[in-house]
Amino acid sequence: MTSSARAIIDLDVTGHTINRHIYGHFAEHLGRCIYDGFWVGEDSPIPNERGIRLDIVEALRALDIPNLRWPGGCFADTYHWRDGIGPREDRPQIANTNWGDVVENNHFGTHEFMDLCDMLGADAYVNGNVGSGTVQEMSEWVEYLTRGDDSPMARLRRQNGRDEPWRVPFWGIGNEAWGCGGNMSAEYYAEEARRYATFCHNHGDNRLTRIAAGAHEDDLDWTRVLMKTLTECHGCTLYGNLPYQAVSFHYYTHSGSGINTEDALPFSDDQYYRTMAYAADMDRVIRGHIAVMDSYDPTGRVGLVCDEWGTWWNVEEGTNPGFLFQQNTVRDALVAGIHFDIFHRYERLTMANIAQTVNVLQAMVLTDGDRMVLTPTYHVFEMNKGHQDARRLVSHLVEAPSTTVEGTPLDLVSLSASTKDDSALISVSHLSADADCTVTVDLRGRRADVRRARVLTGGSAADFNDVDAPDRVSPQPLEARVEDGILTVVVPPHSFSTIELDLV
Ligand code: AHR
Repeated sequence: MTSSARAIIDLDVTGHTINRHIYGHFAEHLGRCIYDGFWVGEDSPIPNERGIRLDIVEALRALDIPNLRWPGGCFADTYHWRDGIGPREDRPQIANTNWGDVVENNHFGTHEFMDLCDMLGADAYVNGNVGSGTVQEMSEWVEYLTRGDDSPMARLRRQNGRDEPWRVPFWGIGNEAWGCGGNMSAEYYAEEARRYATFCHNHGDNRLTRIAAGAHEDDLDWTRVLMKTLTECHGCTLYGNLPYQAVSFHYYTHSGSGINTEDALPFSDDQYYRTMAYAADMDRVIRGHIAVMDSYDPTGRVGLVCDEWGTWWNVEEGTNPGFLFQQNTVRDALVAGIHFDIFHRYERLTMANIAQTVNVLQAMVLTDGDRMVLTPTYHVFEMNKGHQDARRLVSHLVEAPSTTVEGTPLDLVSLSASTKDDSALISVSHLSADADCTVTVDLRGRRADVRRARVLTGGSAADFNDVDAPDRVSPQPLEARVEDGILTVVVPPHSFSTIELDLV
Protein backbone atom coordinates (compact mmCIF):
# COMPACT_ATOMS: atom_id res chain seq x y z
CA MET A 1 0.00 0.00 0.00
CA THR A 2 1.37 3.43 -0.94
CA SER A 3 -0.13 6.81 -0.16
CA SER A 4 1.09 10.19 -1.32
CA ALA A 5 1.84 13.53 0.24
CA ARG A 6 2.75 16.87 -1.29
CA ALA A 7 4.46 19.89 0.18
CA ILE A 8 5.85 23.24 -0.93
CA ILE A 9 8.98 24.86 0.43
CA ASP A 10 10.18 28.32 -0.58
CA LEU A 11 13.94 27.97 -0.37
CA ASP A 12 14.50 31.71 -0.66
CA VAL A 13 12.03 32.84 2.01
CA THR A 14 13.68 32.39 5.38
CA GLY A 15 12.04 32.75 8.77
CA HIS A 16 13.53 33.03 12.26
CA THR A 17 16.73 31.34 13.38
CA ILE A 18 15.91 28.02 15.04
CA ASN A 19 17.34 28.34 18.53
CA ARG A 20 19.86 25.54 19.02
CA HIS A 21 18.78 25.32 22.65
CA ILE A 22 15.56 23.55 21.66
CA TYR A 23 17.86 20.54 21.23
CA GLY A 24 18.70 20.68 24.96
CA HIS A 25 19.00 17.82 27.42
CA PHE A 26 18.14 16.99 31.00
CA ALA A 27 20.07 14.92 33.53
CA GLU A 28 18.48 14.45 36.93
CA HIS A 29 19.61 12.58 39.99
CA LEU A 30 17.07 9.92 39.12
CA GLY A 31 17.61 6.20 38.71
CA ARG A 32 20.69 5.49 36.60
CA CYS A 33 20.98 8.84 34.85
CA ILE A 34 23.78 10.30 36.98
CA TYR A 35 24.99 7.43 39.18
CA ASP A 36 25.71 4.35 37.06
CA GLY A 37 25.06 6.56 34.03
CA PHE A 38 27.13 9.66 33.42
CA TRP A 39 29.05 9.08 36.64
CA VAL A 40 30.92 5.84 37.24
CA GLY A 41 33.64 7.23 39.52
CA GLU A 42 37.38 7.45 38.96
CA ASP A 43 38.03 3.89 40.19
CA SER A 44 35.60 2.27 37.77
CA PRO A 45 36.92 -0.24 35.22
CA ILE A 46 34.60 1.48 32.73
CA PRO A 47 36.72 3.98 30.77
CA ASN A 48 36.21 7.40 32.32
CA GLU A 49 37.80 10.76 32.71
CA ARG A 50 37.70 12.14 36.25
CA GLY A 51 34.80 9.73 36.95
CA ILE A 52 32.69 10.66 33.90
CA ARG A 53 31.92 7.84 31.52
CA LEU A 54 33.66 8.38 28.20
CA ASP A 55 31.53 6.36 25.79
CA ILE A 56 28.48 8.40 26.80
CA VAL A 57 30.39 11.66 26.35
CA GLU A 58 31.61 10.59 22.94
CA ALA A 59 28.11 9.59 21.80
CA LEU A 60 26.58 12.85 23.02
CA ARG A 61 29.29 15.00 21.50
CA ALA A 62 28.14 13.73 18.11
CA LEU A 63 24.76 15.34 18.83
CA ASP A 64 26.19 18.83 19.44
CA ILE A 65 24.08 19.05 22.54
CA PRO A 66 23.64 22.75 23.28
CA ASN A 67 22.76 22.66 26.97
CA LEU A 68 22.27 20.29 29.87
CA ARG A 69 19.80 20.81 32.71
CA TRP A 70 20.73 19.53 36.18
CA PRO A 71 20.21 18.40 38.99
CA GLY A 72 16.42 18.02 38.52
CA GLY A 73 13.47 17.87 38.16
CA CYS A 74 11.82 17.11 41.43
CA PHE A 75 15.27 16.36 42.85
CA ALA A 76 16.27 20.02 42.42
CA ASP A 77 13.90 21.13 45.16
CA THR A 78 15.50 18.76 47.66
CA TYR A 79 19.11 19.43 46.64
CA HIS A 80 21.45 21.49 48.78
CA TRP A 81 24.46 22.32 46.68
CA ARG A 82 26.93 22.56 49.56
CA ASP A 83 26.48 18.79 50.07
CA GLY A 84 28.14 18.26 46.69
CA ILE A 85 31.37 20.26 46.94
CA GLY A 86 34.73 19.66 48.61
CA PRO A 87 36.65 16.39 48.94
CA ARG A 88 34.35 13.56 47.86
CA GLU A 89 35.08 11.40 50.89
CA ASP A 90 33.84 14.22 53.15
CA ARG A 91 30.58 14.82 51.38
CA PRO A 92 27.45 13.81 53.31
CA GLN A 93 25.14 11.11 52.07
CA ILE A 94 21.59 12.13 51.20
CA ALA A 95 18.33 10.29 50.59
CA ASN A 96 16.78 10.78 47.17
CA THR A 97 13.20 10.85 48.43
CA ASN A 98 11.66 11.50 45.02
CA TRP A 99 13.32 8.72 43.09
CA GLY A 100 13.57 5.25 44.55
CA ASP A 101 14.28 6.56 48.05
CA VAL A 102 17.89 5.56 47.54
CA VAL A 103 20.88 6.97 49.40
CA GLU A 104 23.37 8.95 47.31
CA ASN A 105 26.96 9.76 48.22
CA ASN A 106 27.06 13.17 46.53
CA HIS A 107 30.16 12.29 44.58
CA PHE A 108 28.62 14.00 41.57
CA GLY A 109 28.18 17.67 42.51
CA THR A 110 28.73 21.13 41.13
CA HIS A 111 32.33 20.68 39.96
CA GLU A 112 31.58 17.32 38.36
CA PHE A 113 28.55 18.73 36.56
CA MET A 114 30.49 21.68 35.20
CA ASP A 115 33.27 19.30 34.15
CA LEU A 116 30.67 17.20 32.32
CA CYS A 117 29.33 20.30 30.52
CA ASP A 118 32.88 21.19 29.45
CA MET A 119 33.45 17.68 28.14
CA LEU A 120 30.17 17.75 26.21
CA GLY A 121 30.71 21.29 24.92
CA ALA A 122 27.28 22.12 26.36
CA ASP A 123 26.01 25.19 28.22
CA ALA A 124 25.03 24.64 31.83
CA TYR A 125 21.41 24.94 32.88
CA VAL A 126 21.45 24.72 36.67
CA ASN A 127 18.12 24.30 38.41
CA GLY A 128 18.01 25.89 41.87
CA ASN A 129 16.02 24.84 44.93
CA VAL A 130 12.99 26.91 45.88
CA GLY A 131 10.90 24.18 47.55
CA SER A 132 13.21 23.37 50.47
CA GLY A 133 15.97 25.92 49.97
CA THR A 134 16.45 29.56 50.79
CA VAL A 135 17.03 32.68 48.75
CA GLN A 136 20.48 32.99 50.29
CA GLU A 137 21.41 29.40 49.41
CA MET A 138 20.46 29.95 45.79
CA SER A 139 22.12 33.33 45.63
CA GLU A 140 25.36 31.89 46.97
CA TRP A 141 25.30 29.01 44.50
CA VAL A 142 25.19 31.53 41.65
CA GLU A 143 28.06 33.42 43.29
CA TYR A 144 30.05 30.21 43.80
CA LEU A 145 29.73 29.29 40.16
CA THR A 146 30.10 32.59 38.39
CA ARG A 147 31.99 35.16 40.47
CA GLY A 148 35.59 35.93 39.63
CA ASP A 149 36.99 38.11 42.38
CA ASP A 150 37.73 37.38 46.02
CA SER A 151 34.14 37.20 47.29
CA PRO A 152 33.40 34.58 49.96
CA MET A 153 31.87 32.11 47.51
CA ALA A 154 34.57 32.66 44.87
CA ARG A 155 37.15 31.94 47.56
CA LEU A 156 35.33 28.77 48.59
CA ARG A 157 35.31 27.60 44.97
CA ARG A 158 39.06 28.20 44.75
CA GLN A 159 39.60 26.21 47.92
CA ASN A 160 37.84 23.37 46.10
CA GLY A 161 40.24 23.54 43.20
CA ARG A 162 38.61 25.79 40.62
CA ASP A 163 40.16 29.16 40.06
CA GLU A 164 38.22 30.66 37.19
CA PRO A 165 34.47 31.24 37.46
CA TRP A 166 32.33 29.18 35.15
CA ARG A 167 29.92 30.53 32.60
CA VAL A 168 26.35 29.57 33.51
CA PRO A 169 23.82 30.97 31.07
CA PHE A 170 20.64 29.28 32.32
CA TRP A 171 19.21 29.19 35.82
CA GLY A 172 16.00 27.47 36.93
CA ILE A 173 14.01 28.97 39.82
CA GLY A 174 12.64 25.74 41.29
CA ASN A 175 10.76 23.04 39.42
CA GLU A 176 7.09 22.04 39.12
CA ALA A 177 6.20 24.38 41.99
CA TRP A 178 2.57 23.24 41.61
CA GLY A 179 3.63 19.69 42.61
CA CYS A 180 6.86 18.12 43.86
CA GLY A 181 8.45 21.58 44.03
CA GLY A 182 6.28 22.64 46.96
CA ASN A 183 2.59 22.27 46.05
CA MET A 184 2.25 26.02 45.71
CA SER A 185 -0.46 28.09 44.12
CA ALA A 186 0.52 29.98 40.98
CA GLU A 187 0.13 33.30 42.81
CA TYR A 188 2.35 32.26 45.71
CA TYR A 189 5.02 30.74 43.50
CA ALA A 190 5.12 33.71 41.12
CA GLU A 191 5.89 36.04 44.02
CA GLU A 192 8.56 33.62 45.25
CA ALA A 193 10.07 33.29 41.78
CA ARG A 194 10.34 37.04 41.54
CA ARG A 195 12.06 37.21 44.94
CA TYR A 196 14.47 34.33 44.34
CA ALA A 197 15.34 35.56 40.86
CA THR A 198 16.12 39.02 42.18
CA PHE A 199 19.00 37.58 44.20
CA CYS A 200 20.42 35.44 41.42
CA HIS A 201 22.87 38.11 40.32
CA ASN A 202 24.79 38.58 37.13
CA HIS A 203 28.39 38.41 38.37
CA GLY A 204 31.14 39.79 36.15
CA ASP A 205 30.14 39.24 32.55
CA ASN A 206 28.02 36.15 33.26
CA ARG A 207 24.43 36.78 32.16
CA LEU A 208 21.74 34.51 33.54
CA THR A 209 18.54 33.64 31.78
CA ARG A 210 16.40 32.95 34.86
CA ILE A 211 13.63 30.49 34.14
CA ALA A 212 10.50 30.43 36.29
CA ALA A 213 9.05 26.98 36.93
CA GLY A 214 6.09 26.74 34.66
CA ALA A 215 2.90 25.00 33.83
CA HIS A 216 1.88 21.40 33.62
CA GLU A 217 1.00 20.88 29.96
CA ASP A 218 -1.75 23.33 28.96
CA ASP A 219 -2.34 24.96 32.32
CA LEU A 220 -2.48 28.38 30.73
CA ASP A 221 -3.62 29.97 33.94
CA TRP A 222 -0.26 29.17 35.52
CA THR A 223 1.48 30.95 32.65
CA ARG A 224 -0.94 33.86 32.93
CA VAL A 225 -0.12 34.35 36.61
CA LEU A 226 3.64 34.09 35.98
CA MET A 227 3.44 36.65 33.18
CA LYS A 228 1.16 39.02 35.10
CA THR A 229 3.32 38.90 38.23
CA LEU A 230 6.42 39.43 36.15
CA THR A 231 5.25 42.33 34.05
CA GLU A 232 3.25 44.13 36.73
CA CYS A 233 6.02 44.17 39.31
CA HIS A 234 6.58 47.77 40.45
CA GLY A 235 10.39 47.72 40.29
CA CYS A 236 10.29 45.84 37.01
CA THR A 237 8.20 48.50 35.31
CA LEU A 238 10.16 51.28 36.96
CA TYR A 239 13.60 50.01 35.97
CA GLY A 240 12.60 47.95 32.98
CA ASN A 241 14.43 44.81 34.08
CA LEU A 242 12.58 41.57 34.47
CA PRO A 243 13.52 39.31 37.42
CA TYR A 244 13.03 36.21 35.27
CA GLN A 245 13.57 36.09 31.56
CA ALA A 246 11.71 32.89 30.68
CA VAL A 247 8.83 30.73 31.85
CA SER A 248 8.78 27.00 31.37
CA PHE A 249 6.21 24.25 30.94
CA HIS A 250 6.43 20.45 30.94
CA TYR A 251 4.75 18.12 28.49
CA TYR A 252 5.06 14.34 28.58
CA THR A 253 3.66 12.13 25.83
CA HIS A 254 1.75 8.90 26.36
CA SER A 255 -1.10 7.24 24.53
CA GLY A 256 -3.90 9.07 26.27
CA SER A 257 -4.30 7.24 29.56
CA GLY A 258 -1.70 9.19 31.51
CA ILE A 259 2.00 8.91 32.21
CA ASN A 260 3.26 5.68 33.65
CA THR A 261 0.20 3.66 32.66
CA GLU A 262 1.20 1.78 29.50
CA ASP A 263 4.22 -0.22 28.44
CA ALA A 264 6.93 1.04 26.11
CA LEU A 265 6.22 -2.14 24.16
CA PRO A 266 4.33 -3.99 22.92
CA PHE A 267 1.55 -1.65 21.82
CA SER A 268 -1.42 -1.83 19.47
CA ASP A 269 -1.92 0.30 16.35
CA ASP A 270 -4.54 2.17 18.30
CA GLN A 271 -2.07 3.00 21.08
CA TYR A 272 0.51 3.92 18.46
CA TYR A 273 -1.76 6.45 16.73
CA ARG A 274 -2.94 7.85 20.05
CA THR A 275 0.69 8.46 20.96
CA MET A 276 1.30 10.26 17.68
CA ALA A 277 -1.80 12.40 18.28
CA TYR A 278 -0.65 13.22 21.80
CA ALA A 279 2.75 14.28 20.49
CA ALA A 280 1.16 16.40 17.75
CA ASP A 281 -0.99 18.15 20.35
CA MET A 282 2.17 19.86 21.58
CA ASP A 283 1.45 22.42 18.87
CA ARG A 284 -1.84 23.48 20.47
CA VAL A 285 -0.20 23.64 23.88
CA ILE A 286 2.66 25.87 22.70
CA ARG A 287 0.28 28.15 20.80
CA GLY A 288 -1.80 28.50 23.98
CA HIS A 289 1.16 29.52 26.13
CA ILE A 290 2.42 31.91 23.48
CA ALA A 291 -1.00 33.57 23.14
CA VAL A 292 -1.00 34.23 26.90
CA MET A 293 2.58 35.49 26.81
CA ASP A 294 1.86 37.76 23.84
CA SER A 295 -0.89 39.49 25.77
CA TYR A 296 1.51 40.49 28.58
CA ASP A 297 4.72 40.77 26.58
CA PRO A 298 3.89 41.69 22.99
CA THR A 299 7.52 42.41 22.11
CA GLY A 300 8.70 38.92 23.06
CA ARG A 301 11.18 39.74 25.82
CA VAL A 302 10.27 36.62 27.79
CA GLY A 303 11.14 33.21 26.39
CA LEU A 304 9.06 30.04 26.58
CA VAL A 305 11.00 26.96 27.66
CA CYS A 306 9.78 23.37 27.54
CA ASP A 307 12.37 21.99 29.92
CA GLU A 308 10.86 18.52 30.16
CA TRP A 309 9.37 16.63 27.24
CA GLY A 310 9.32 13.08 25.97
CA THR A 311 7.48 9.81 26.39
CA TRP A 312 6.72 8.37 29.81
CA TRP A 313 5.89 4.66 29.86
CA ASN A 314 5.79 2.02 32.58
CA VAL A 315 9.20 0.99 33.85
CA GLU A 316 10.67 -2.18 32.38
CA GLU A 317 9.77 -5.32 34.31
CA GLY A 318 12.17 -6.13 37.11
CA THR A 319 13.54 -2.58 37.38
CA ASN A 320 13.11 -0.19 40.29
CA PRO A 321 9.74 1.60 39.84
CA GLY A 322 11.36 4.82 41.07
CA PHE A 323 14.09 4.68 38.42
CA LEU A 324 11.89 5.31 35.36
CA PHE A 325 13.89 3.04 33.08
CA GLN A 326 11.99 2.38 29.84
CA GLN A 327 12.73 0.91 26.44
CA ASN A 328 12.90 3.25 23.47
CA THR A 329 11.37 2.27 20.12
CA VAL A 330 10.72 3.69 16.66
CA ARG A 331 7.48 5.06 18.15
CA ASP A 332 9.53 7.17 20.58
CA ALA A 333 11.75 8.38 17.75
CA LEU A 334 8.67 9.60 15.88
CA VAL A 335 7.48 11.47 18.96
CA ALA A 336 10.81 13.31 18.85
CA GLY A 337 10.49 13.95 15.11
CA ILE A 338 6.98 15.42 15.54
CA HIS A 339 8.09 17.57 18.48
CA PHE A 340 11.00 19.06 16.59
CA ASP A 341 8.79 19.97 13.62
CA ILE A 342 6.58 21.85 16.09
CA PHE A 343 9.47 23.41 18.02
CA HIS A 344 10.95 24.76 14.77
CA ARG A 345 7.77 26.79 14.18
CA TYR A 346 7.95 29.04 17.21
CA GLU A 347 10.55 31.74 17.72
CA ARG A 348 9.33 32.40 21.27
CA LEU A 349 10.24 28.85 22.22
CA THR A 350 13.83 29.48 23.22
CA MET A 351 14.71 26.15 24.79
CA ALA A 352 13.51 22.58 25.18
CA ASN A 353 15.01 19.69 27.11
CA ILE A 354 14.25 16.06 26.50
CA ALA A 355 13.70 13.96 29.63
CA GLN A 356 16.18 12.45 30.14
CA THR A 357 19.56 11.90 28.54
CA VAL A 358 20.75 8.59 30.02
CA ASN A 359 18.79 5.52 31.26
CA VAL A 360 15.68 7.49 32.25
CA LEU A 361 12.41 8.00 30.33
CA GLN A 362 13.01 8.84 26.63
CA ALA A 363 16.77 8.47 26.79
CA MET A 364 19.47 8.97 24.17
CA VAL A 365 21.59 6.14 25.51
CA LEU A 366 20.87 3.08 27.64
CA THR A 367 23.67 1.40 29.53
CA ASP A 368 24.04 -2.16 30.73
CA GLY A 369 27.20 -2.54 32.77
CA ASP A 370 30.05 -1.47 30.54
CA ARG A 371 27.92 -1.69 27.41
CA MET A 372 25.96 1.16 25.88
CA VAL A 373 23.22 1.33 23.26
CA LEU A 374 22.11 4.31 21.19
CA THR A 375 18.34 4.55 21.09
CA PRO A 376 16.19 5.37 18.04
CA THR A 377 15.56 8.78 19.66
CA TYR A 378 19.32 9.40 19.70
CA HIS A 379 19.37 9.02 15.94
CA VAL A 380 16.63 11.62 15.47
CA PHE A 381 18.72 14.13 17.42
CA GLU A 382 21.73 13.29 15.29
CA MET A 383 19.88 13.40 11.97
CA ASN A 384 18.24 16.71 12.93
CA LYS A 385 21.24 18.52 14.37
CA GLY A 386 21.68 20.60 11.20
CA HIS A 387 18.55 22.56 12.19
CA GLN A 388 20.39 24.06 15.15
CA ASP A 389 20.90 27.78 14.50
CA ALA A 390 19.64 27.43 10.91
CA ARG A 391 16.99 29.72 9.44
CA ARG A 392 13.57 28.20 9.35
CA LEU A 393 12.02 27.54 5.95
CA VAL A 394 8.25 27.59 5.99
CA SER A 395 6.91 24.30 4.65
CA HIS A 396 3.36 23.99 3.45
CA LEU A 397 1.91 20.50 3.61
CA VAL A 398 -0.74 20.72 0.93
CA GLU A 399 -1.81 17.10 0.77
CA ALA A 400 -1.19 14.20 3.15
CA PRO A 401 -2.77 10.93 4.19
CA SER A 402 -4.56 11.23 7.50
CA THR A 403 -6.40 9.26 10.12
CA THR A 404 -8.71 10.19 12.97
CA VAL A 405 -7.88 9.79 16.64
CA GLU A 406 -10.83 10.29 18.96
CA GLY A 407 -12.61 12.36 16.36
CA THR A 408 -9.63 14.61 15.68
CA PRO A 409 -7.84 14.38 12.32
CA LEU A 410 -4.16 13.50 12.41
CA ASP A 411 -1.95 14.10 9.37
CA LEU A 412 0.28 11.10 8.84
CA VAL A 413 3.10 13.25 7.53
CA SER A 414 4.86 15.91 9.56
CA LEU A 415 7.73 17.95 8.17
CA SER A 416 9.95 20.93 8.74
CA ALA A 417 12.88 22.54 6.97
CA SER A 418 15.69 24.99 7.52
CA THR A 419 18.59 26.49 5.65
CA LYS A 420 22.18 27.36 6.52
CA ASP A 421 25.30 28.05 4.40
CA ASP A 422 23.79 27.27 0.98
CA SER A 423 22.31 24.02 2.20
CA ALA A 424 18.89 22.98 3.38
CA LEU A 425 17.68 20.24 5.68
CA ILE A 426 14.21 18.72 5.42
CA SER A 427 12.87 16.38 8.11
CA VAL A 428 9.94 14.09 7.39
CA SER A 429 8.12 11.99 9.97
CA HIS A 430 5.83 9.47 8.35
CA LEU A 431 3.37 8.12 10.89
CA SER A 432 1.40 5.48 8.99
CA ALA A 433 1.66 2.13 10.75
CA ASP A 434 1.51 0.13 7.54
CA ALA A 435 1.79 2.07 4.25
CA ASP A 436 4.64 3.59 2.26
CA CYS A 437 4.22 7.19 1.25
CA THR A 438 5.50 8.97 -1.84
CA VAL A 439 6.37 12.45 -0.67
CA THR A 440 6.91 15.15 -3.28
CA VAL A 441 8.16 18.56 -2.30
CA ASP A 442 7.93 21.48 -4.67
CA LEU A 443 11.19 23.30 -3.99
CA ARG A 444 10.76 26.91 -5.05
CA GLY A 445 13.09 29.86 -5.25
CA ARG A 446 16.48 28.14 -5.62
CA ARG A 447 17.95 25.17 -7.41
CA ALA A 448 18.65 22.22 -5.16
CA ASP A 449 20.58 18.96 -5.43
CA VAL A 450 20.39 16.07 -3.00
CA ARG A 451 23.55 15.81 -0.91
CA ARG A 452 22.41 13.01 1.36
CA ALA A 453 19.14 11.40 2.40
CA ARG A 454 18.68 9.01 5.31
CA VAL A 455 15.82 7.09 6.83
CA LEU A 456 15.30 5.66 10.31
CA THR A 457 12.76 2.91 10.79
CA GLY A 458 12.31 -0.68 11.86
CA GLY A 459 10.41 -3.78 10.85
CA SER A 460 7.71 -2.48 13.17
CA ALA A 461 7.12 0.70 15.14
CA ALA A 462 8.01 -1.29 18.25
CA ASP A 463 11.55 -2.08 17.08
CA PHE A 464 14.32 -0.99 19.44
CA ASN A 465 18.06 -1.37 19.91
CA ASP A 466 19.70 -3.49 22.57
CA VAL A 467 23.14 -4.85 23.27
CA ASP A 468 22.47 -7.89 21.07
CA ALA A 469 21.27 -5.77 18.15
CA PRO A 470 22.57 -2.24 18.74
CA ASP A 471 21.96 -1.13 15.13
CA ARG A 472 18.57 -2.69 14.52
CA VAL A 473 17.16 0.83 14.30
CA SER A 474 19.80 3.09 12.77
CA PRO A 475 19.91 5.58 9.90
CA GLN A 476 20.09 4.03 6.44
CA PRO A 477 20.54 5.64 3.02
CA LEU A 478 17.27 6.76 1.43
CA GLU A 479 16.79 7.18 -2.29
CA ALA A 480 15.92 10.78 -3.08
CA ARG A 481 15.96 12.80 -6.28
CA VAL A 482 15.26 16.34 -7.40
CA GLU A 483 13.91 16.75 -10.93
CA ASP A 484 12.63 20.03 -12.29
CA GLY A 485 12.57 21.44 -8.78
CA ILE A 486 10.51 18.57 -7.36
CA LEU A 487 12.02 16.46 -4.60
CA THR A 488 10.67 12.91 -4.49
CA VAL A 489 11.20 10.34 -1.75
CA VAL A 490 9.30 7.17 -0.94
CA VAL A 491 9.30 6.79 2.82
CA PRO A 492 8.41 3.53 4.56
CA PRO A 493 5.78 3.20 7.30
CA HIS A 494 6.63 4.56 10.79
CA SER A 495 9.79 6.27 9.60
CA PHE A 496 11.79 9.40 10.20
CA SER A 497 13.81 10.78 7.28
CA THR A 498 16.13 13.68 6.64
CA ILE A 499 17.06 15.05 3.24
CA GLU A 500 20.07 17.33 3.02
CA LEU A 501 20.18 19.59 -0.05
CA ASP A 502 22.88 21.68 -1.68
CA LEU A 503 21.44 24.99 -2.83
CA VAL A 504 22.87 26.60 -5.94
O1 AHR B 1 11.58 13.76 34.52
C1 AHR B 1 11.05 13.10 35.63
C2 AHR B 1 10.24 14.02 36.52
O2 AHR B 1 9.11 14.47 35.83
C3 AHR B 1 10.90 15.31 36.96
O3 AHR B 1 11.71 15.14 38.07
C4 AHR B 1 9.75 16.17 37.29
O4 AHR B 1 10.03 17.54 37.10
C5 AHR B 1 8.64 15.69 36.37
O5 AHR B 1 7.47 15.46 37.04
